Amino acid sequence: MKREQKFYSTLSRRSTKLAIALSGFLTCAGLLVSGAESAIIDISGAKSGPPINPRMYGIFLEEINHGVDGGLYGELVRNRAFEDSRPPEGYSLQNGVWRNPSGFDSGFSRYGYTTNGVPFWSLIQTGGAKGQMSIQTTGGITEQSSYCLRLEVEPAAGGRVGVANEGFFGIGVRQGEQYRLSLHARGGDGFKGPLVVHLEDQNGAACSDEVKIDSIGDTWQKYEGVLNGSKTDSKARLIIEVGGKGAVWLDFVSLFPAKTWKDRPNGLRPDIAEMIAGLRPGFVRFPGGCVVEAGSIETAYNWKLTVGPVEQRQERWGPWNFRRTQGMGLFEYLQFCQDLGAEPLYVGFAGQTCIFRAPQLVPMDEMNWVRDNLLEVVQYANGPADSRWGAIRAAAGHPAPFDLKLMEIGNENQGHEFERRYNFVHDALKSRDPDVQYLADLSWTSAESMKDAQFDIQDQHYYNSSRWFATRFNEYDDRNRKLPPLYLGELAVTTPEAGNLRGNLRAALSEGVFLMGCERNADVVRMVSYAPLLANVDGRTELTGSPPPWHAMIYFDGTRVFGTASYYLWKTFGANRPDHVVQTDVNFPDAKPVVVAGQIGVGTWADTAEFKDLQVEQNGKVLFQSDFSTNAGGWHPDGGRWSVTNGVYRQGRRGQGFSYFGDENWSDYTLTMKARNTGGAEGFLIIFGRKNGERYWWNLGGWGNTQHAIEFNQTPVGSPVPGKIERERWYDVKVELNGSRIRCYLDGQLVHDAVVPRQQKFFVVSGPDAAQKEFIIKAINLGSDAVSGQLKLEDLPPIAGSAHLTVLHSSDPAINNSLDHPSAIQPLESDVNLTGNDFSHEFPPYSLTVLRLKMR
Ligand code: AHR
Repeated sequence: MKREQKFYSTLSRRSTKLAIALSGFLTCAGLLVSGAESAIIDISGAKSGPPINPRMYGIFLEEINHGVDGGLYGELVRNRAFEDSRPPEGYSLQNGVWRNPSGFDSGFSRYGYTTNGVPFWSLIQTGGAKGQMSIQTTGGITEQSSYCLRLEVEPAAGGRVGVANEGFFGIGVRQGEQYRLSLHARGGDGFKGPLVVHLEDQNGAACSDEVKIDSIGDTWQKYEGVLNGSKTDSKARLIIEVGGKGAVWLDFVSLFPAKTWKDRPNGLRPDIAEMIAGLRPGFVRFPGGCVVEAGSIETAYNWKLTVGPVEQRQERWGPWNFRRTQGMGLFEYLQFCQDLGAEPLYVGFAGQTCIFRAPQLVPMDEMNWVRDNLLEVVQYANGPADSRWGAIRAAAGHPAPFDLKLMEIGNENQGHEFERRYNFVHDALKSRDPDVQYLADLSWTSAESMKDAQFDIQDQHYYNSSRWFATRFNEYDDRNRKLPPLYLGELAVTTPEAGNLRGNLRAALSEGVFLMGCERNADVVRMVSYAPLLANVDGRTELTGSPPPWHAMIYFDGTRVFGTASYYLWKTFGANRPDHVVQTDVNFPDAKPVVVAGQIGVGTWADTAEFKDLQVEQNGKVLFQSDFSTNAGGWHPDGGRWSVTNGVYRQGRRGQGFSYFGDENWSDYTLTMKARNTGGAEGFLIIFGRKNGERYWWNLGGWGNTQHAIEFNQTPVGSPVPGKIERERWYDVKVELNGSRIRCYLDGQLVHDAVVPRQQKFFVVSGPDAAQKEFIIKAINLGSDAVSGQLKLEDLPPIAGSAHLTVLHSSDPAINNSLDHPSAIQPLESDVNLTGNDFSHEFPPYSLTVLRLKMR
């Protein structure tokens, strides 16, 4: 494949003369604000980049964080089919914990589930009325929903008896809205009813009118009614009061908003669906994620359990610590894609369960069902209405095909065993359905381990820090164009600095810088999606007991929903995708050079280590000399276990551990010390230039004791070199700082001589939108100062005189939206007048700016 021209936002320092001239111009024009930096933005319409996929921006919709059950899927009753007490499939009880065959804890016991409990339902008995409830594991309305509830009651005048369902962290009810109730009931011992059903708040005040069900027979029967919401409450309960004496069985108790999105039966919560639709996604990747692979072969996603009448769908324990109702099944996903105008991208189980959950493999000689499930999903989606699976789709109300063209085989799988299974499935699929494009996820496996695998598109996932994303504008500039193109299926800033694990403006803007790099390399990056998409504010799920590392783009409770800063950034990117980028160069005429300044420190990544005889010297003056004879006064440990013995400062717990000392304003200093590794897989870390939580370090024996590298916030500065650190050997270490130059010596030998490039904080991409006869300029300013830009457009039609401006900005980069403040950060839109193809514009601090110029 021909190597395409790449499009950089170049960075250079122009002459002082030009800087003075430019600042003079801007000052005259009244544009230079205090602290503002100047930038010259040269845009050349003559130099085009590769076409950008019109469906580049999509979504990844996974059942995680109660995003679907307890979120998008309209069902309001939790544990509607009383199946939640079923043991997690493929796990066994070991010392009170349900574990998979390799010992992975399913979360069932940790989350308080028991095999004889009735989760999310409680017995109500007041004023002398008596009742008992128990789970029945057989006798339910269908074979798939064989669990049901038995209730034995003895009502009393002035009291009440029955059961309450708490919903998913409360039932969201809105005044003036209607809710469709359905339940299956049968009586025993002559029980006839009535059952009286309504919604009430936590204090017992009614949130709806009542539905009364009389004449209950002794065989299962479905009863339906409508509840009218009389009070808005996001934490209501559904109450089923029993009016007669005797025993009654309940199964499949369901409550749906009468108005679902697009009025689909078994449909979706309109406000959440509408937020998703607002993104205008080009595609939908579903249903996972880890949900596809799960923690056991029996719970791995099997779409065949998710189609047909909901009462006949077999629920399954999910990898995110709750049971999946399968209410939003394959049909509903495909219908949702169609209603969104998005292409479906189905991800199928490929024979290896989740690599983070003590993975299990389907034996090769049992792989036929795995392969057939994927072959048949294509028939379900695309086959004629008289084909075996096409007929089931048609019976669900969709005789026309759904046109599934993208299929991912597996999620974050790993190793040669995965490759074998992938090939087994892929080869069958490719020969049966050659027009479908097949994707393989290489996020957690090496290219080498997939070297014999064929795939049309490679999926790659990135969860990382704001800094990581913000420094990857050029990530794909040097990608080998002969490799398959990429789908970046799961992208998000996930580090805690992104604010209460819900992201913030800085995180969003950093993601935007990375996305700009993707638009510039659109021949390499075909599709992108954020992950996870949805989270119930009360339902964020964890992995093996640790706090969840990821945010979501859209949060909600029972009645409210909001988009995060990332939601608005991605939405703005999707709505302002040019056909292709054009060459866009950014120069900073008055840029100041970087000075590496900040505290010193020592640390380890995966080890224990010792440090002694530290000295910091600046221009012949000693700023600090260590004395670890009795203590480490003034040092600030951060992780690890630090102690002093005989003049040595020791990090004694294997793993990450850092300790810092000194003044954040120290610069141009020489740090010397002796250091030795005393255990672990790598060497040690020498920290310098630590300021505002950001830090440089010299990583000696990093990457499994194979390389030495200077890093800034874990991003290399200059080139790493091969090298290793010997255990128990004292090394002489020296780091010399001179402005932006860093020199590192080991035992007197110069190992690195690097100059820190100026940190780029302002990024621009641009390109035409031919259909709208508009030219799009997107700029991100990550800095705390405004950027005064002088834009020069060449080889483009003249500007018609006006432009539409969209700005996502706040002076506080930590800002985000919340349930109470859903619009704290949102894009603001306006029209501006512009004349000529040479104009100035000011880009506020911490902002995304989009200018859509009308072209003549
Ligand atoms: O998006 C959350 C999870 O992260 C996905 O399920 C999985 O693919 C990844 O590990």
